[in-house]
Amino acid sequence: MNVLKDVATGVGLVLATPVHMLGRLVSNVWWPLKGVKDEIVLITGGGSGIGKGMALKFADLGATVVIWDVNKKGADAVVAEIREKHGQDRAHAYAIDITDREKVYALAKQVKREVGAVTILVNNAGIVTGKPFLEADDSKMVKTMEVNTIAHFWTTKAFLPDMLEKNHGHIVTVASSAGKVGVASLADYCASKFGAVGFDESIRFELRKMGKTGVHTTCVCPFFIDTGMFEGAKTKVPWLLPILKPELVVDRTIRAIRMNQATVAIPRFLYFGQFLQGILPPSISDAIVDLFGANDSMDDFIGRTKKD
Ligand SMILES: NC(=O)c1ccc[n+]([C@@H]2O[C@H](COP(=O)([O-])OP(=O)(O)OC[C@H]3O[C@@H](n4cnc5c(N)ncnc54)[C@H](O)[C@@H]3O)[C@@H](O)[C@H]2O)c1
Repeated sequence: MNVLKDVATGVGLVLATPVHMLGRLVSNVWWPLKGVKDEIVLITGGGSGIGKGMALKFADLGATVVIWDVNKKGADAVVAEIREKHGQDRAHAYAIDITDREKVYALAKQVKREVGAVTILVNNAGIVTGKPFLEADDSKMVKTMEVNTIAHFWTTKAFLPDMLEKNHGHIVTVASSAGKVGVASLADYCASKFGAVGFDESIRFELRKMGKTGVHTTCVCPFFIDTGMFEGAKTKVPWLLPILKPELVVDRTIRAIRMNQATVAIPRFLYFGQFLQGILPPSISDAIVDLFGANDSMDDFIGRTKKD
């Protein structure tokens, strides 16, 4: 009897796949997007790049924005821009290194007192070393793990309980396509992003198990973006894997959040890449990765220069 039940569940799940894909197709044309007016959105690393873009866009959509960034100057500039357009109480900047666990917990309490309970947390801050593994500085590799993965533990621990209490909220993980596939000269970065992807998925399952249907997660996995973080990185197949414009990543991410979409890969071709990697033996999928030039993509990497 149990075997029959398992077979029926399996058949149901297989049939659900094309239904899901059809749903995704329809959703690209039309889908009701949840409003974010009255939400309090906290974005780590919101003083630059796509964090900044998301802050401005969330503010335009009516949300109150809180920026946490180690770069206070950048965070202040974004907050000033939002305040000028939408008013004083709609944006707040705080200087913090999110790898400092105790400071994260203390500042989270301060934000709750000064602004209110955070309802959308965007774990976006990130750094990259960008060197072949044996040449990479030990302290930079550790810091990469701390910023890109471990800090998500502290911020999520700080803000998730309020979301659970109201059964209302959203945890967003800005990971990377490097969280799905390894890349030469990005060993620590890929390890950190694989970690972030695993963290997101596990939290999603915990929420599911708890029956907290009002608390959502979204994991974002973009290819290289033209923000300066990966300056010098290149693509061999720009027609399939272009260096992305920050505006596109911001738009797709906010749309995914407003659709309560669990994962988003940008560009969409990455879904196909992941599928191939899942079914092909490594000898063939590695050759495809080589063909696409992925392992040469970091050869001319410069990264952020000081003046950025
Ligand atoms: N740029 C890309 O090609 C690319 C591709 C895929 C994923 N991503 C990811 O997107 C996210 C945003 O990247 P971006 O391109 O906008 O980079 P960015 O450098 O423009 O922004 C990152 C922000 O994080 C902040 N930050 C860094 N360390 C911090 C710390 N310890 N505490 C607090 N804030 C800190 C920085 O000050 C900066 O404002 C990152 O997680 C990155 O890994 C970027």
